[in-house]
Amino acid sequence: MKYNKCGNSGVMLPALSLGLWHNFGSVDDFETATQMLLRAFDAGICHFDLANNYGPIAGSAEENFGRIVKVHLSAHRDEMFISTKAGHEMWPGVYGGNSSRKNLIASCDQSLRRMGIDYVDVFYSHRYDGVTPIEETMQALVDIVRSGKALYVGISKYPVKLQRKCYEYLQAHDVPCLLSQYPASMFRQVSGVGKNGLTISATNQDETIPTNLELASQYGSGFICFSPLAQGLLTDKYLHGIPKGSRADKPTGFLRKEQVTDARVEAAQKLNELAAQRRQTLAQMALAWLLHDVRVTSVIIGASQVSHLNDNLLALDNTTFSADELKAIDTILAPKELQM
Ligand SMILES: NC(=O)c1ccc[n+]([C@@H]2O[C@H](COP(=O)([O-])OP(=O)(O)OC[C@H]3O[C@@H](n4cnc5c(N)ncnc54)[C@H](OP(=O)(O)O)[C@@H]3O)[C@@H](O)[C@H]2O)c1
Repeated sequence: MKYNKCGNSGVMLPALSLGLWHNFGSVDDFETATQMLLRAFDAGICHFDLANNYGPIAGSAEENFGRIVKVHLSAHRDEMFISTKAGHEMWPGVYGGNSSRKNLIASCDQSLRRMGIDYVDVFYSHRYDGVTPIEETMQALVDIVRSGKALYVGISKYPVKLQRKCYEYLQAHDVPCLLSQYPASMFRQVSGVGKNGLTISATNQDETIPTNLELASQYGSGFICFSPLAQGLLTDKYLHGIPKGSRADKPTGFLRKEQVTDARVEAAQKLNELAAQRRQTLAQMALAWLLHDVRVTSVIIGASQVSHLNDNLLALDNTTFSADELKAIDTILAPKELQM
């Protein structure tokens, strides 16, 4: 495994992290989930990314993670870097799903109970909710660290303008933002990763506005990409239709059938040919392409089988691209309709 320094901190994170959004819930096969987690840890993937609402049912991914850690990894807690988040809908009533102090403090306690651990390494604000003042959300994060329930904090999906405000508030309170978590893949470049410095902002397309990635880098925050394979679209899975049991096929999956468009499938087929020339699978090339930007600390992959992890781990064997390869990739990705 390759480990990267996380922003200005002393923390090292694996280039590949494992996310438990799908395939670790109560609807999923517990034995497969166990095997995936253990294979990841054995391969040096020591960072596990969770959230209070991961499942389904919401909360069950944390419970299953806790069960697996208790039985197999309890002696290794200090070798693991565990994150969780709060801010999306979780429990009924007006307090169960926003970025208020009320929600974040209660959520953190609930997550620790479900996972059976004393602290998380990173506690994230999962989103800007459009209502709660940034100061309230950030102060809740600061207080969670002060209470010993998290070692570091992070933000996820905040638009550029508010992202800067978060960094400044947290820095002023001596709890700098360790990690900024944004969607990034060949089919999702809004955060600014990829395309050799392409500057499309998350909030508008004015090139004078920094991207999420640029801003994180400027403020010394690590940057971690989620859904790096566009939920499976950037693998060989959908090259010939929607296979049974895939995320797009499952009622509980977040990838909708209508997102598997002809244009994306055609682009994936062309990218797949390019990957073959590099002696990589499409998934390996898609991950390598994100990691070739040195400002990216880690990419959080998902998996539904151990073989996915084995395939994706090999991405790290070649994360360099020639100018011609980058140009060819840019050409394939040029149509705006590919972006999700
Ligand atoms: N902060 C946020 O708001 C947010 C949002 C979304 C995700 N995340 C984080 O990011 C993590 C990763 O997201 P993601 O699961 O969407 O990531 P992803 O890596 O883009 O997609 C994972 C899916 O791709 C398929 N796959 C992976 N490797 C494969 C391979 N080698 N060959 C064929 N198919 C392969 C599998 O699909 P099948 O299941 O169909 O087999 C797998 O479930 C989440 O678990 C979560 O921790 C955070």
